[in-house]
Amino acid sequence: MTDETEITLTVNGTEHTVEVEPRQLLVHAIREELDMTGTHIGCDTGNCGACTVVKDGEPIKSCLMFAAQADGAEILTVEGMEDLPEAGPELHPLQEGFKEEHGLQCGYCTPGMLMAGKALLDENPDPDEDDIREAISGNLCRCTGYQNIVKSIEYAADELEGRTATDGGAVAENGRDAETAFDSESADADTFCGVEDCCGGPSADDAGPGDQFEREYLGGDSE
Ligand code: FES
Ligand code: FES
Repeated sequence: MTDETEITLTVNGTEHTVEVEPRQLLVHAIREELDMTGTHIGCDTGNCGACTVVKDGEPIKSCLMFAAQADGAEILTVEGMEDLPEAGPELHPLQEGFKEEHGLQCGYCTPGMLMAGKALLDENPDPDEDDIREAISGNLCRCTGYQNIVKSIEYAADELEGRTATDGGAVAENGRDAETAFDSESADADTFCGVEDCCGGPSADDAGPGDQFEREYLGGDSE
C-alpha cells in the first residue's frame, strides 16, 4: 500500500484538494485527479514541453515535478485561458493568435506553447522575435516549423497592447497586419493555408465559436 498525501492546488482560480501518491507527477495529478486533459504528455522526461503549465507565474514542465512539491501552488492550464481578464468574449488573444496565424497543425504541442507564450507576455508584453523563440525553446513542435507559432505570439502581443484592436478587443478581420495576414479568399486553390505544400491541417476559416477546432486544439479539451 502506498501512502497518499493530501495537497491543495489552485488551478485556473479554483482550489482543489486531492490525494496523491508521493511519486505522482504534477502532470498526472492535473490530468487524472482533476480531469484536465488539455495539458498534454509527450515524453514524460522534460524534453518536449507538451506538459507546460504556468505555476506561480513561471512556465514549468509539469512532468518534472512531483504533485506533492506543488502543494499550495497557483497553476494556470490551457483550460483557464478563456477566463483570464484579458481574454476576449470567446478566446484569449494567444488562442486568437494561433487561430489567425495558423500556429498549429496537429495541435499536440499547442497547450504547452500557449502556456509558454502566456508566461512570456506576462513578463515581457513587447517581445521581439528572439525573445519569443527563446521563450518557446523548451517546447518542441513536429509540425509547424515554428514560424507561425512566433507570428501567433506576436499577434497576441499586439492584440494585448491594443495596437490593432478596434472594437474592444475582438480580432480584426484577417489578423493584425494587412501585409502579412492570410487572405483565404485569394489563396491559391492548391494551397490550404497560404503555404506552398502545406500539410492540410485544420483550417481556421472553417472554425466557428465552440466548434471542434477550438475545443480540441485551443481549449485543450483533448486527450
Ligand atoms: Fe513533459 Fe515532455 S511531457 S516535457
Ligand atoms: Fe506542434 Fe503538431 S506538434 S502542431
